[in-house]
Amino acid sequence: MNRKLKIHIAVLVASLMPLISTGCLTPEPPTVDKSMENEKDPHSFAEPEKVVVTHLDLDAKVDFDKKQIAGLATLRIDNKTKAQKLHLDTRDLNVYRVTLGKGDTETKFSLGDEVEFMGRPLIVDIQPDTTEVNVYYNTNPAAAALQWLEPAQTAGGKKPFLFTQSQAILARTWVPCQDSPGVRMTYRATIRTRPDLLAVMSAKNSTQKNADGLYVFEMPQPVPSYLLALAVGDIDFRPLGDRTGVYAEPSVVDKAANEFADLEKMMAAAESLYDPYRWERYDVIVLPPSFPFGGMENPRLTFATPTILAGDRSLVSLIAHELAHSWSGNLVTNANWNDFWLNEGFTVYLERRIMEAIKGRDYSEMLAQLGHQDMTGTIEELGADSKDTHLHLDLAGRDPDEGMTDVAYEKGYFFLRLIEESAGRERFDAFLRKYFDTFAFKSMTTTGFLSYLQEHLIADDGVMEQKLQIDKWIYGAGVPASCPKVESKEFAKVEEQVKAWQGGAAAKELKTAGWTSHHWLHFLRKLDDPISQERMAELDAAFKFSNTGNSEILNAWLMHAISNKYELAYPSLERFLTSMGRRKFLKPLYTELAKTPEGLEMAREIYRKARPTYHSVSYNTVDEILKWKG
Ligand code: BES
Ligand code: ZN
Repeated sequence: MNRKLKIHIAVLVASLMPLISTGCLTPEPPTVDKSMENEKDPHSFAEPEKVVVTHLDLDAKVDFDKKQIAGLATLRIDNKTKAQKLHLDTRDLNVYRVTLGKGDTETKFSLGDEVEFMGRPLIVDIQPDTTEVNVYYNTNPAAAALQWLEPAQTAGGKKPFLFTQSQAILARTWVPCQDSPGVRMTYRATIRTRPDLLAVMSAKNSTQKNADGLYVFEMPQPVPSYLLALAVGDIDFRPLGDRTGVYAEPSVVDKAANEFADLEKMMAAAESLYDPYRWERYDVIVLPPSFPFGGMENPRLTFATPTILAGDRSLVSLIAHELAHSWSGNLVTNANWNDFWLNEGFTVYLERRIMEAIKGRDYSEMLAQLGHQDMTGTIEELGADSKDTHLHLDLAGRDPDEGMTDVAYEKGYFFLRLIEESAGRERFDAFLRKYFDTFAFKSMTTTGFLSYLQEHLIADDGVMEQKLQIDKWIYGAGVPASCPKVESKEFAKVEEQVKAWQGGAAAKELKTAGWTSHHWLHFLRKLDDPISQERMAELDAAFKFSNTGNSEILNAWLMHAISNKYELAYPSLERFLTSMGRRKFLKPLYTELAKTPEGLEMAREIYRKARPTYHSVSYNTVDEILKWKG
């Protein structure tokens, strides 16, 4: 038989295997692992069903002067179909040489046409028996995943800093790879940098600088490319427990260690809910303030914004969230970005369970209620019938970043909470444990999850099935009628105080003793605009909002300051917008400013100064809000 034909038959047989193994014609519920069904990732040029990358060996020089990473990426591949071409993802990469195998044999390669957001496919000629492909490349100084910070943008002010942000599809701007969350690889990396800087990765890390500036990392668990991460800077380490610790610049590290004192408790809570942590160590690095996200769940080493260092540990549920991704997301991973809710909705659910375990139900119900407000606010913005309010998204042809909204997080959370409330906690917890165990180190599609849910939890419980309204949650818009209700006693108390103040009571007289930042957030969110200048000043005098060190409270307060043109808070607004680059805060504040001509003018003035300090993820968003053309 000719070889090509043989391959075709092999592929055909493989694709029929599920049918054959379940008895061909009987349409029974599938017992096969549906998550293994390959839904094509619309955001990747890779063809992992033909050839798949299983390991990355990266040798990279980090050059701060050139703002460039010069790399050799050796990709170990499994050429499942004896293909002649390997398709990799790249964006803004300068690939100058590609070779095969240990012998470094030159091979032909080409870069396909540029597609917006996606970059260009790197197509490499391979042999049926090729096991290793070596890609020699340099990054572009403007690579979207990389932020090269000047010393002035760091806490220490003396040394430069570099960090990466690979999620969702930015890994390809610093490493040529199959940049799809449905593909996993182990990795090893050799990073060469200045001897006065420490390099850390989403891998086994050193806790001390190396005199020769050379660091070797090992990541023995297979991870998707969006979890590739690197930070280089003047970084110190403080241990928190036996397998936990915190990295940060020297002047920040003690504050960070104090803020995260509950980390061990969080780990214990997470493990007792969802079985042992599978990544050996869990550390957090607090990055300089331009980090565009609150947190990023890079395995073994969460990347975090310093804006959660409130001084009173009030914003650490963010760490619970990133830790929770060690189960939901990093262990069981959304197969492509349309299934984003499988990462984030589950993680918000786990985060609140962890916080409930260590702080009590009253506390986690405040988080849930704030989340509910975020969800309804986002759905209102998107439009109640927008497809972006479905849990299962359709992001093909768009920058995935655009559709990754609070919907995945909060509608996802409330859907899981509904299942929990229908099945009972004990059963649902057991179900989740089994789910994480069964699909550990694998990817999961929405249909895969739903069939697993059907088989392992709903079974023949017709009442439960009716109650869940699964299709409405997953493939329908808005918030289904079955959405669980959150009743927060704490917030009921806050609402009484809001009423009292709006009824004319003096701010100083309000009963606010013992309020956490969540109470304050709720208070500020419940205050209706417009508010007179006098009353804004009264609030500010009583509660010192303009000077608060709590970024969440400051953000909520500044929203009122903008919409009420309360100019006394403008210096604080400008300071906030020019001292951090977290998109979650930049987006609402610039949006609110842009609503009036004077506000827009002020926003542009501030932005002119601040934009060079923001990460591309953030300035791309703000450019659009301010219609910025430079
Ligand atoms: N994985 C996300 C961050 C992310 C999402 C990066 C999509 C790029 C694309 C992370 O786990 C996250 O959700 N961070 C939140 C904080 C969390 C407590 C909701 C953030 O950064 O605000
Ligand atoms: Zn998350």
